[in-house]
Amino acid sequence: MRVLLTGGAGNIGRVTLDRLLAAGHDVTVLDAAPLPEGLGAASIVADLTQPACLDDLPEAPAAVVHLAAIPNPFVATWDRVLAVNMPATFNVLRYAAEKGVPRVVFGSSESASGWGIHGKFYRPDYLPIDEKHRDLPSEVYSYTKAFGDQLCAGFSREH
Ligand SMILES: NC(=O)c1ccc[n+]([C@@H]2O[C@H](COP(=O)([O-])OP(=O)(O)OC[C@H]3O[C@@H](n4cnc5c(N)ncnc54)[C@H](O)[C@@H]3O)[C@@H](O)[C@H]2O)c1
Repeated sequence: MRVLLTGGAGNIGRVTLDRLLAAGHDVTVLDAAPLPEGLGAASIVADLTQPACLDDLPEAPAAVVHLAAIPNPFVATWDRVLAVNMPATFNVLRYAAEKGVPRVVFGSSESASGWGIHGKFYRPDYLPIDEKHRDLPSEVYSYTKAFGDQLCAGFSREH
């Protein structure tokens, strides 16, 4: 199927790209960084905080895998983590809803659950934690991922 992979030039994105191509999918990578040539996927260099960048896509995909983000609170200022992660996820979901894309896979984070990068008072409701555990974000990156979880839940309900 035709898959749009955001963040496909990044660490997890490259592994995901390999898996998607190996499974026979037709992949377009949209990333702020260029994809090295010869990997077998179309590459669009764009900034997902700008919703217009999605208008130029030639055809709606059958699925979107959304991994593009600032992946932790240590590699950018907190302002930038907020300014990238939240609008990028919103823009991807709005695009998918408008185009009728039936499936979006969102790269959230264990940090949204409170695990991983966590606050001083982190205490899970139960162990082992799993995807049903409520979000307990405690710092800027995990706030953006928990926001993404909420957006996904909302868009899933509405669309
Ligand atoms: N690495 C981890 O341990 C980990 C754990 C949990 C979740 N995640 C999530 O997985 C995803 C991928 O993480 P990663 O470790 O591969 O990070 P990475 O930094 O290697 O890859 C992220 C990619 O997103 C792109 N990107 C950033 N801002 C963008 C923008 N405005 N528009 C378009 N592209 C943009 C970057 O260019 C980069 O290629 C992220 O959403 C991250 O939050 C990562």
